[in-house]
Formats: sequence, C-alpha cells, structure tokens
Amino acid sequence: MSGIPHDHYEPKTGFEKWLNKRLPVVGLLYDTLMIPTPKNLNWWWIWGIVLTFCLVLQIVTGIILVMHYTPHVDMAFASIEHIMRDVNGGHMLRYIHANGASLFFVAVYIHIFRGLFYGSYKAPREVTWIIGMLIYLMMMATGFLGYVLPWGQMSFWGATVITGLFGAIPFIGEGLQTWLLGGPAVDNATLNRFFSLHYLLPFVIAALVAVHIWAFHTTGNNNPTGVDVRTGSKEEAEKDTLPFWPYFVIKDLVGLGVVLIVFFAIVGFMPNYLGHPDNYIEANPLATPAHIVPEWYYLPFYAILRAFTADVWAVQLVSFLTGGIVDAKFFGVLAMFGAIFVMALAPWLDTSSVRSGQYRPAFKWWFRLLIIDFIVLMWVGARDTNFPHDWISLIGATYWFAYFLVILPLLGLFEKPTTPPASIEEDFNAHYPGAAE
Ligand code: HEM
Repeated sequence: MSGIPHDHYEPKTGFEKWLNKRLPVVGLLYDTLMIPTPKNLNWWWIWGIVLTFCLVLQIVTGIILVMHYTPHVDMAFASIEHIMRDVNGGHMLRYIHANGASLFFVAVYIHIFRGLFYGSYKAPREVTWIIGMLIYLMMMATGFLGYVLPWGQMSFWGATVITGLFGAIPFIGEGLQTWLLGGPAVDNATLNRFFSLHYLLPFVIAALVAVHIWAFHTTGNNNPTGVDVRTGSKEEAEKDTLPFWPYFVIKDLVGLGVVLIVFFAIVGFMPNYLGHPDNYIEANPLATPAHIVPEWYYLPFYAILRAFTADVWAVQLVSFLTGGIVDAKFFGVLAMFGAIFVMALAPWLDTSSVRSGQYRPAFKWWFRLLIIDFIVLMWVGARDTNFPHDWISLIGATYWFAYFLVILPLLGLFEKPTTPPASIEEDFNAHYPGAAE
C-alpha cells in the first residue's frame, strides 16, 4: 500500500463484498494497478516492465525446452541438437531463450544505472535497492548454470573455471568445490544439479521481484527530479501523479514493443552473434579451448577478477598482512564479489542531500566516467591478460571501487548542487506546457 493518498477499492456488488471479506485479492490488484505514479517519469523507467517480461519469457520458453532436453552428459549436447533440428519451432524456442538471457541483462544494467543516476537507491528506497541486488546475483547464478546445460566446450570449461574460484577460498575451498560439483571435476553429477538449480532459481527470482515491487509500492516510485510526491492531501498528490493504469501501462507497452522489435530482429537474423562458436563443439574434458570467455554480461566483473594479479602491490600487501592466506586468486574472487557489494552499499555511501544526478554538476561527470569504465571493463574482460590489457583492467577495477568508496561519499560533502524544481508538477509543466490546460 502506498503512502501517497489515493482512492482505494470499494467492493460494490454482493459477490465482490463476499469475496473481499474472505480474500481481498481484487483490492490488492486494484491498488497495484491504480497506484499513483509520478507523472514526469521518462523512458528510463520502462525497463522494469521489460525485466518482468524477460522473466516470464525465460520461464515459459525454459519450461518448453525442458520437455525436450536431457540432463545427462551423454545426451545433453545431442538433445540440444534435437531441439534445434527436429522439434517444431525448437530452434526459435532455443534462440529466444538464449538471447532472452542477454536481453534480461541489457535491461538489468540499464535499470541499475538508471537507479545510480537518479539516486533511486537513496532513502527511503534502500530495501528496493538491496532486493534488486539480490535479484541481480540470482540472475548471474541462473545464467551461469544455464550456460552449462548445452554441454558444449564453453559450458564445460566455463563451469570448470568458475567453480574453480570457490576452490580459491582458504581452508574450506577445495571441499566446497567438490561439494558444489558433486565430485572431483565437472561431470554428470554437476550437470544434474546445475539443471535442477537452473530450473529452481527463476522462481526464487520471481518471489524476490514480488518483494521488490512491494517495496517500491510502499515508498512510491522515484522520478527524474528525485523530488518527493507531495502527500499533504489527495488533491495535492494528484497534481504530481497519474494512476499507473492506463497511462504508464500504455507507455511501458510502447517501450517494450520497440525493444522487442530489436530483440526479434536479433533472434531471427543473427541468433548466434552473442554466443561463442566453441559451444557448438561437444564438451571434451581432454581438450581445453584456446580462450575461455564468459558470456558478455559477466565480462566487467570477470575483468575485475583478473585485474588483481600477484604483482599488484595491494595484493602483495594483503597477502603479507594475512600471512599468505589471501593469495592473488582469492583476492581476485573477493574483488569480484566486492565490486557488487560496494554497489549494494551505495545508499549509505552517497552523502549528497540532493537525490537526482540531474542537479549535481560534478557527479554527472564521475557518473559518465563510471559508464565508460563499465564498458571498458566489459571490453577488456574478453581480451587476454597481456600488456596493456592487464593495466587497463587494473585501472578500470580501481575506478569502480573509487567511485563507490571515495567519490560518492566525498562528492556529497563538497559539491554544490543546483536547485531541483519545487514539485513534480512544476517539472512536468515545464516539459509539457500544453498539458497543464
Ligand atoms: C528481475 C529483475 C527486476 C525486475 C523484474 C524489476 C522490476 C522493477 C519494476 C517494475 C520497477 C518499477 C518501474 C521501473 O522503475 O522501471 C522497478 C524499480 C526499481 N528497481 Fe527493479 N527490477 C529488477 C531488478 C533490479 C535490480 C537488479 C536493481 C538494482 C539493484 C533494481 C533496482 C530498482 C530500484 C531502486 C527501483 C525504484 C526505482 C524508481 O522508481 O526509481 N531492480 N524494478
């Protein structure tokens, strides 16, 4: 239920009253759909719906794929070929699911960076943000598990490298890795459990999405100005908002339509563009591919993982201080998870009194640099680790941490923000002068 005053559902007919007393589900749907939404939301706010669509798309296509897939090392690769060649529409189904994962990550990155720019993570939306971060971690895990299922060369070797990271944890690492794999190496037991978890996690994500939506419906949406909806009276609130239905539903569907045109053009005309050709070779534990490259959406964090080699002074210092317990490999793992952890802490690291980046002249520049940094890390994550790539990863990784741990806290103290509009209504009318009449 929103803190913004608005009309609530009133059961009218006898049946509605009867049902409402026993299960107020219609009221819940009404309040969800009619929720007052800031009327100045721009196109960066469509990605939540795109994400919801992706989740449903992945679950539906995944469930149908499972009807034809066999999670056994002797049959997995062949069953994928069977889907591609024999099953009616099977190739489309598979390509939609594989590229759907990419669309999911495009959407989530835009959604996250939107939040980072407009300060959507700041109070009172910290819980929405943290739940979002949990969803993001679950998405990463689901994508990784799914990539193993076709049992191609990249599936096998990707799984070997990534589960090897757990082996880098001091003391418990080796045991943990064996426990995760179900044996000493990636094999049938691994494929089975990865399949089981890949099926399970999207439903965990769906539950987290419900909590995510509940959280931002409790606080109300942020908006491009970062200025709160006025809640003094219903009349005042109505000047700043419009009900979600029909206004934002229609707008979001238009956005989703445009996104889907691009998506289906890729699925139809270049479905393997984002994939790796080696995954069309069946997994062979005796032949290591020349370059093991993760999917594009892991690359920025993969670059951070590889940035901290044994010759970096920070690694040497930490290794010395911990008596060698934290070696370069474990440092890399800590850095990779740390990079996501510092992002999760943004609500407490950002000290600015102004929420939206639009009114923060210095912040804008550091934020642009963060986006460039993310793209550069993505690029360098797919390269080898020779010079200059080692330096580029290290500088990129350092900036990522500096942005969250140093720049965000300090900027709020020293930056002089410009003045945001007094209300959402004022911002809206400035953009659409005709709409006020
Ligand atoms: C399956 C993944 C996700 C789904 C389906 C989802 C869905 C949504 C939806 C529908 C909205 C409201 C409309 C919009 O702002 O676009 C929203 C808002 C929000 N999301 Fe997500 N989200 C997901 C992941 C994430 C992640 C990974 C984060 C970042 C940690 C995040 C942070 C936020 C925040 C802070 C808001 C409030 C935004 C505002 O109104 O400014 N979300 N989400």
